[in-house]
Amino acid sequence: MKKNMLVMAAAVCMTAVLSACSSGSTETTAAAADTSAEAAEDTTAAESAKEESAEAADAGEESTEAAGGTLIMVTNAEFPPYEYHENNEIVGIDVDIAKAIAEHMGMELEIQDMAFDSLIPAVDSGKADFAAAGMTVDPDRQQFVDFTDTYAEAAQVIIVKEGSEIATPDDLAGKTIGVQTGTTGDMYADDIQDAEVQRFNKGMDAVMALTQDKIDAVIIDREPAKVFVEENEGLTILDEAFTEEEYAIAVKKGNTELLNSMNEAIKELKDSGELQAIVDKYIAAE
Ligand code: ARG
Repeated sequence: MKKNMLVMAAAVCMTAVLSACSSGSTETTAAAADTSAEAAEDTTAAESAKEESAEAADAGEESTEAAGGTLIMVTNAEFPPYEYHENNEIVGIDVDIAKAIAEHMGMELEIQDMAFDSLIPAVDSGKADFAAAGMTVDPDRQQFVDFTDTYAEAAQVIIVKEGSEIATPDDLAGKTIGVQTGTTGDMYADDIQDAEVQRFNKGMDAVMALTQDKIDAVIIDREPAKVFVEENEGLTILDEAFTEEEYAIAVKKGNTELLNSMNEAIKELKDSGELQAIVDKYIAAE
């Protein structure tokens, strides 16, 4: 109960008047601004929320050990709609989820952008607290990191040029396939018989290579695939998905305290419908 109040109070506080809430980080503030625009109009509510928030913080019973600290998230912001750049900012589903989790934990959030295949090393070495990057739960990765509960269903799909002779995953044998380095698409492509795998830093670069006929197909996650196909003429996604997967957040192996706090926050986001609301903000219903 108290936790809910704290989260709401923080959101109202940060939305209402930035100057009145000296501790709000810009990242967290932006998240709150999105979700509680209505509350911003009610200054009285904001004032009392501020007090409640302070009280709750004093009581301390709901705060984590690291309360007041900063969670460092790493991601690879080349993956719309989960993370991408917009107006010099990193935005997307994972960003909003991470902001909501940080808020729930009473922490600030800092986001660092890096190559996808640097994410697990960054978490493993302790340079970052967690990676949120549309990352698929995968046993190989679980040797190095622990995954939270999953928060999205996903799939690897195949993008080809319209009119391509590739019509099903089986047709990929012997073809040249573009992938983003270190992704599950990369792993699967590697197993395709006689296929040549071309690795790119960004999924979009693989898609560009496809439009230029440098490769025959791209294996990539469904939601970014939809965005890339929409942005480039003459491409299509095969009906048959390559694999089904699930996304989760990666934390350092053995950091059960952080893992449990994040899982608690994820559960609350699921139960309250907030998670679905975030997804709906970025992905139009079909
Ligand atoms: N789901 C895939 C994987 O885990 C691709 C994720 C790519 N994410 C990104 N932010 N570039 O390997």
